[in-house]
Amino acid sequence: MASLTIRKLDDAVKTYLRLRSAKNRRSVEEEVRVILRELIEGREEPLTPFSAPPAQSTAPTPQRTGAAPEASVTLIIGGGIAAYKSLDLIRRLKERRVEVRCVLTKAAQQFVTPLAVSALSHERVYTDLFDPQSEFDAGHIRLARGCDLIVVAPATADLMAKMANGHADDLASAILLATNRKILLAPAMNPLMWNNAATRRNLAQLQRDGVVLVGPNSGEMAEAGEAGVGRMSEAIEIANAAERLLRPPVPKPLAGKRVLITAGPTHEPIDPVRYIANRSSGKQGFAIAAAAQAAGAEVILVSGPVDLDDPAGVTVKHVESARQMLEQVQAALPADIAIFAAAVADWRVANEGEQKLKKTSAGMPPLQLVENPDILATISKLTDKRPPLVIGFAAETEHLIDNAKTKLARKGCDWIVANDVSPATGVMGGDRNTVHLLSRKGGEIAVDSWPVMTKEQVAIELVAHIARSVTDKSREPAS
Ligand code: CTP
Repeated sequence: MASLTIRKLDDAVKTYLRLRSAKNRRSVEEEVRVILRELIEGREEPLTPFSAPPAQSTAPTPQRTGAAPEASVTLIIGGGIAAYKSLDLIRRLKERRVEVRCVLTKAAQQFVTPLAVSALSHERVYTDLFDPQSEFDAGHIRLARGCDLIVVAPATADLMAKMANGHADDLASAILLATNRKILLAPAMNPLMWNNAATRRNLAQLQRDGVVLVGPNSGEMAEAGEAGVGRMSEAIEIANAAERLLRPPVPKPLAGKRVLITAGPTHEPIDPVRYIANRSSGKQGFAIAAAAQAAGAEVILVSGPVDLDDPAGVTVKHVESARQMLEQVQAALPADIAIFAAAVADWRVANEGEQKLKKTSAGMPPLQLVENPDILATISKLTDKRPPLVIGFAAETEHLIDNAKTKLARKGCDWIVANDVSPATGVMGGDRNTVHLLSRKGGEIAVDSWPVMTKEQVAIELVAHIARSVTDKSREPAS
């Protein structure tokens, strides 16, 4: 068996092995064994990304994780003892599926080597403004704009001064001057430098320019016996701050609100196999439930029989008849907002057959109908548990606005969403809807007519109105 003396390998390979074994927490010898085993087993291993990158190619190298990067960052590493944390920052950003291209200032190279940075980022590292290979095609402009965010870590007092004053005498400052991307700074310096009037001035200027800061933290300094504000934030804090800028959280205007929604038709039994129904598909109510959930609300959806999947993250109570629907609605109270989108059958059969009704020589048995409870009116008129905002729908086939106005008054709700459900509109069972939002404004009823939209868009628009009204603490929709 051949033996291998690691000492005799060339420097780049030795550094690669040292880095890789440290990362994997193995001895160098053990790491060599793993590499050989993986090569023999045909497993894909990142030998290429760790080797010196091709001089002119700046194309992104495939990610080791197999997950495609979703964003890209140009990371400028300044010259300070905290530069060692940037190595961990590269790893933290890559974990978050962020592609990282690194730029090292001259001073930074005193603390971390381009080879180490390249090995971790799997990318070529940039150090020189006058590098003919990268400046051949204006590399600093590409680094400044071919990314989603620029992170400067550590941001030294000198780099901040250069930025605040618009200098561009090295690659890092030229990128920072040429960029139109957001910049995140992670300052790191001695507390006296951080508190120096010049740094304070520069910082104020940078904040006016829209630069975002993470840290610095307070703690012990590298200089023996010194402590104060100036320590660079931890890699994980910087990566989280970068992630917030790259993927801003979706606003949740209804967070903390409980929204109760009815949807779909009701089925009113005639006998065990027959029922009275209507053409409602439940699509509009389900779309409202999904939109309210996406806006952060806790949503309870009471649905009649529909052919739709339950919206994710929504509590769904499946019912058949109007009376069951009322029962579930009452059980779900209290709520902050209630939206009654169901097409509830107005009547049910009084003499529901216990057995299947049979044909007889006497002809069709008479169906006696009795009125169902009006769920919307019942909830609107509650005194104790009435939700602060109650919204009804008006399904009309003629005199849309006039009938809807009458319904708003009769039912006692706050808003009515009126829609024309004549067969020609295709609203019942269809995917689009044309609605008018009626609300009380002073003594008058205001009508806000929306253009034809998909039911999802109607839902989003309605939830946006609700969110504005909740924020305004007013029951009147913003127009
Ligand atoms: N509604 C209800 N319970 C009922 C009937 C209707 O909660 N028994 C609600 C609907 O969910 C809708 C509003 O009342 O929010 C209006 O429903 P609609 O069918 O348009 O009107 P009706 O009240 O049934 O009156 P009409 O049939 O005379 O139009």
